[in-house]
Amino acid sequence: MQASLVTDNIYRLSANIESDVLFEGMWPLPHGCAMNSYVIKGRDVAIVDGVCDWDGVPETLYAQMAEIGVDVKDIRYVIINHTEPDHTGWIKSFQKITNDFEVVITQKGLELAQAFYGLDVKYRTVRSGDSIDLGNGKKLVFEETPNVHWPDTMVTYEASTGTLLPCDAFGSYGSVGTAGCDDEMTEEQLQFYEEEALRYFANIVARFHPSVVRAIDKLKNLDVKIIAPGHGLVWRRDPQRVVSLYQRFASFGAGPAEPVVTVLWGSMYGNTEKAIAPLLEGLASEGVKAIVHQVPQTHISDILASAWRSTGVILAMPTYEFKMFPPMAAVIDELGRKMVTGKVALRVGSFGWSGGAQRELDEIMEHQKMKWQFLEPVEFKGAASEEQLQLIRERAAELARQVKAAAIVAAA
Ligand code: FEO
Repeated sequence: MQASLVTDNIYRLSANIESDVLFEGMWPLPHGCAMNSYVIKGRDVAIVDGVCDWDGVPETLYAQMAEIGVDVKDIRYVIINHTEPDHTGWIKSFQKITNDFEVVITQKGLELAQAFYGLDVKYRTVRSGDSIDLGNGKKLVFEETPNVHWPDTMVTYEASTGTLLPCDAFGSYGSVGTAGCDDEMTEEQLQFYEEEALRYFANIVARFHPSVVRAIDKLKNLDVKIIAPGHGLVWRRDPQRVVSLYQRFASFGAGPAEPVVTVLWGSMYGNTEKAIAPLLEGLASEGVKAIVHQVPQTHISDILASAWRSTGVILAMPTYEFKMFPPMAAVIDELGRKMVTGKVALRVGSFGWSGGAQRELDEIMEHQKMKWQFLEPVEFKGAASEEQLQLIRERAAELARQVKAAAIVAAA
């Protein structure tokens, strides 16, 4: 892929992680993921954010520098907005080429960089409001935005062009080609990246959503004309679109979200599965959209995205050895870790000789402080009777009514 010009003397250099790699070692990338770096040319040259150290990726970066007339050895400043290795893994490779550069980083970032790489280079720690004049009209201003996504995080703002380089914030999954700006995309393509942004947000950023709100508030003081994140598209025509998207996602952190119900179900011999049709009928009778995922067949990455946008969640699973169906317990625990809190919920399912699912569900809810509001569960011994299936239908309709009342935005 070729480097591309974002705006006056600011270039995007990018490599795509392709689909057989798991992001953070666990998140599937069926559509890939772009790793963006930005080179800013003043009298001095700076690179903001870097790339991972996977085979061939740093070399791709160096080749793209050559395309834009930058010798790797010309780089004076390496700006590390965020130390996670998807943005810093290349540093060791870079140091084999030159050691004549200065790392610009927060104090917390420096601690992490030294822990990860034992960095023995010149460095400058910066705080909010600090700046570096690159010459020729290019000036970089730094703003700390801790916990978006790690505590070290800051954003870089190039004042002459109003370009914000926020690293993980405002990013998305999805590979991006050389044409990587919103003004080069169709509406359909933009919607694809917005969906990928939701999954990225739910997987990577959701745990820290209060920090996203704080960061957006802080950045209101900057005259942002372009948003150039470390992953995904550059927003040049309408940067407010991705800010509004992230505000929308962050606002779901309290629980109420879109008028949608995520239905998670797992079944051993088909008895719990027979409850799914009446559940969906009950939701449909109130005009509420359902997103259905079978557990464990569906990856938690997709479940997180669905649950994050949903006001309601239905858990349908059997009891298994005095507890919940184990893969469902693992899913609920992961939802708790990612702070999927405050949902309106319903549990249904089959049991054999003993119950016990409720006790374990209560334990996870308490341990993860999830604060879900449950309707009375519907459990049945063995196969559900027609009367029990009708009760399930009615309870789903009641859940749907509560979801419509609690939702804070229209469905996307
Ligand atoms: Fe893209 Fe938190 O690293």
